[in-house]
Amino acid sequence: MQNITTTLKKLFYLWRRSQVPVKQPIKISRIDNLIIFLVCILISIISSYKLLLVSPLYIADIFSWFLTFTEILISSGVLILVSKKENPTISSRQIFLIITLLLAVQVTKLVLASTISPLSMIIPPALIISQGMGSITALAWVSIASFSWPDPAVAINNNLFFILLACSLVVSLLGGRIRSRAQLLQLSIFVPLGSFLSQWILIDQDKISLINEQKFVLANRDIFSDSLFLAMVMLFTILFIPIFESIFGLLTKARLLELADKEKPLIRRLSLEAPGTFEHTLLICGLAEEATRMIGGDIDLIKTGALYHDVGKLHAPNWFIENQDGSKNPHDELDDPIKSAEILQAHVDEGLKFARKNRLPKLIANFIPEHQGTLKMGYFFQKAKEKNIDVNEYYFRYKGPIPQSKETAILMLADGCEAALRAMNIDASDEEAFETISKIIYSRQKDGQLDDSNLSKGEIFLIKRSFLNVWKRIRHRRIQYPTSKNNTFS
Ligand SMILES: [Fe+2]
Ligand SMILES: [Fe+2]
Repeated sequence: MQNITTTLKKLFYLWRRSQVPVKQPIKISRIDNLIIFLVCILISIISSYKLLLVSPLYIADIFSWFLTFTEILISSGVLILVSKKENPTISSRQIFLIITLLLAVQVTKLVLASTISPLSMIIPPALIISQGMGSITALAWVSIASFSWPDPAVAINNNLFFILLACSLVVSLLGGRIRSRAQLLQLSIFVPLGSFLSQWILIDQDKISLINEQKFVLANRDIFSDSLFLAMVMLFTILFIPIFESIFGLLTKARLLELADKEKPLIRRLSLEAPGTFEHTLLICGLAEEATRMIGGDIDLIKTGALYHDVGKLHAPNWFIENQDGSKNPHDELDDPIKSAEILQAHVDEGLKFARKNRLPKLIANFIPEHQGTLKMGYFFQKAKEKNIDVNEYYFRYKGPIPQSKETAILMLADGCEAALRAMNIDASDEEAFETISKIIYSRQKDGQLDDSNLSKGEIFLIKRSFLNVWKRIRHRRIQYPTSKNNTFS
């Protein structure tokens, strides 16, 4: 009985968590909304107008047209809602991409339905959408694109329809997870191969329906050339994905991993010109990755975001303690806490400039201001108070915004704990380390820094535990192993 109550409580908790938006939605301007709505109307007209081209035209035909028109319009609306739910920070450009692809497919069906296989029309756009906006959006797109055929005279073979759905499902599900261009290439070979084999097995046996109804294969029911054409279109799509990434601001897994390459010029510069910041960044990557894995967040996103979060320090590396190497602290010579606070804020402003110059995606650039939020620069504020008790706290707070996602919030917490964990005595117990982590996280919580991040209490606890695990690893690495004088073993 107790087990059932616990399970019910857990289910209720999970349900409640699922009702919370993960990220703050981005507002879309009225003009963009209007353009998107007009494109949806256009899609509905193109998908249904042929129903009116019958003579004589009866009321029943008009009613049937109206039903189809409304159905497509509502479906397009649902597609946009699904994409917004899966990507709360989706931009109008990306919504525009989804519906434009739907429009393009409907037009292609009208013009080329008798010469091009539906596989080649639907699978490549599904690949782009799954890569840029996730599997669920791609699946929603595929279902609308597969079910609505603008020309009622064109019948689609049942077996071919089944193969189309199966291939689209594979592409949508795998496309959202694929982490390298090489895997994309494999997909563009294996999906057409699979479609060829399944068409050969399922359709070729049913020759009558193939000849009479199946009008989509290229070169008159030649399933080989049909699959070859699909492979070519998919390869062509993969070639163009980087262009889609930059035009529509898509952030694919492959792009994230490319950005996380430590040989990227900006990261290389960080390691050479600000080695202390680079070391700090690497440790933060470890802390943030572990915590994100614990709460089930986007690991690739946080790893890349962590790598770029402090690139702004490149504008004046020696003004930051981790790069001072025990030499003079220029802040002491400056002896002006307000100016020092301005220099600290500059690492955020300059970081954003670096992000723009290097065309970093917005989701990565968000880590730069949000990891500092509106935190108080306590040290300089105290120094200023020693000089003038009435000094305004405003000058000693970062400009924000506070973290808007779980990932940027985790990075803020990792950033806060990194120095404390690194400085911690090697003999410190797990309890002491956990207490230090808890204190730092609690101070940020109390300061309201996590208010917009949607981190639950349970997740914050998991983050603390994961930071402790990383600390244990650091401690383990620092333990000196006893070695014999004549250490000859390797
Ligand atoms: Fe920072
Ligand atoms: Fe940092």
